[in-house]
Amino acid sequence: IPDDEDIQRENNVRGLTMLGHFGFECLPHQLVNRAIQKGFSFNILCVGETGLGKSTLIDSLFNTNLKEKKSSHFNSNVELKIRTYELQESNVQLKLTVVKTVGYGDQMNKEGSYQPIVGYLDAQFESYFQEELKIQRSFVDYHDSRVHVCLYFISPTGHSLKSLDLLTLKSIDNKVNIIPLIAKADAISKNDLQKFKYKIMSELVNNDIQIYQFPTNDESTAQMNSSMNKHLPFAVVGCIDEVKVGKRMVRGRQYPWGVLQVDNENHCDFVKLRDMLLCTNTEDLKEQTHTQHYERYRCFKLQKIGFTDVGPDNQPVSFQEIYEAKRQEFYDQCQREEEELKKKFMQRVKEREIAFKEAEKELQDKFEHLKRIQHEETIKLEEEKRQLEEEMMNFYKMKAGSETLQTQGYTNIKKD
Ligand code: GTP
Repeated sequence: IPDDEDIQRENNVRGLTMLGHFGFECLPHQLVNRAIQKGFSFNILCVGETGLGKSTLIDSLFNTNLKEKKSSHFNSNVELKIRTYELQESNVQLKLTVVKTVGYGDQMNKEGSYQPIVGYLDAQFESYFQEELKIQRSFVDYHDSRVHVCLYFISPTGHSLKSLDLLTLKSIDNKVNIIPLIAKADAISKNDLQKFKYKIMSELVNNDIQIYQFPTNDESTAQMNSSMNKHLPFAVVGCIDEVKVGKRMVRGRQYPWGVLQVDNENHCDFVKLRDMLLCTNTEDLKEQTHTQHYERYRCFKLQKIGFTDVGPDNQPVSFQEIYEAKRQEFYDQCQREEEELKKKFMQRVKEREIAFKEAEKELQDKFEHLKRIQHEETIKLEEEKRQLEEEMMNFYKMKAGSETLQTQGYTNIKKD
């Protein structure tokens, strides 16, 4: 097969050597340039008991010193501390949001411990959902606060997961990508650590808890990701202080028996976590958040409102049809409620009317009764008056009689 140069020579055409990319092979470069200009954002949720090393691990991951002050063990409920940082590495800008539990695991009420976390995850989905529903959306300057990954810190007991761990993981596993971590892994020996990892994974499987699996569908990362999946949960150690090992300064924790180097893969899984989280799978975590977790939330919300893709006859239903049906349903319901209210009102008016009539009749009866009593009293008084007058007449008669007798007697005495 003749190559380009042979053809050019044959046709006596002068060729130019390409100095850069041109044509549509430049598309990926355009995307990279635009993404760098726009900057990246990444939201991490750290869930774990107080003092398990959440802040130290975030500092170790991003090489920062973001820690403010230690949290108290005596919070009456779990709170979430949200901080957003603008970080830069070479020419890449990263807007990092770290949400950290405060007081997690310090209360008796287990439901109260994980509810604020579930509520926060849902609230971020809801805010994005509301933005999507707007007629004039402004995703350009919208700060997408949906959580891309949850680093779940497991206490290094070497024993098993606590009931709070299971409850929390179960309630958030369909809302966020979970990467389980054994915190302060320097507290467990190498042998115990393997058994502990195995125990945790079997407990997660037994309780049907889905954790994030590094994707194996991309050829370039499949091998690495599938081997990393076998290392879960990562046993991490955090530290931002540097200590001298030989002639080098390394990040590590100094112990009487030696130095545990955070960035040494033989000492802990910190490097594995950092590579998986920040170098290999950041974009997949964001994609999963949108296509799996947010999609589930959106679907649930729309179904709750009454939207559906297919009708009872299994035929696709258009948005317009659903809207019209909903509108009609709402209108009918308003009518029904209005009728109901009218009926209730008429019923009450009737009841009141009957009550008034009864009261009126009662008053009338009372009046008649009083009138009768008064009439009887009057008759009685009239009778008494008549009797009195009769008695008075008799008295006057008797008085006149006795006066006559008296006068006659007096005349007789005088005669004598
Ligand atoms: P709160 O914000 O108070 O909930 O704590 P936190 O979970 O953010 O823990 P923090 O990072 O403040 O660490 C608490 C203590 O544990 C500090 O004294 C750290 O130096 C220490 N620490 C952090 N990570 C590790 C670790 O991997 N191993 C050991 N042994 N100690 C650690």
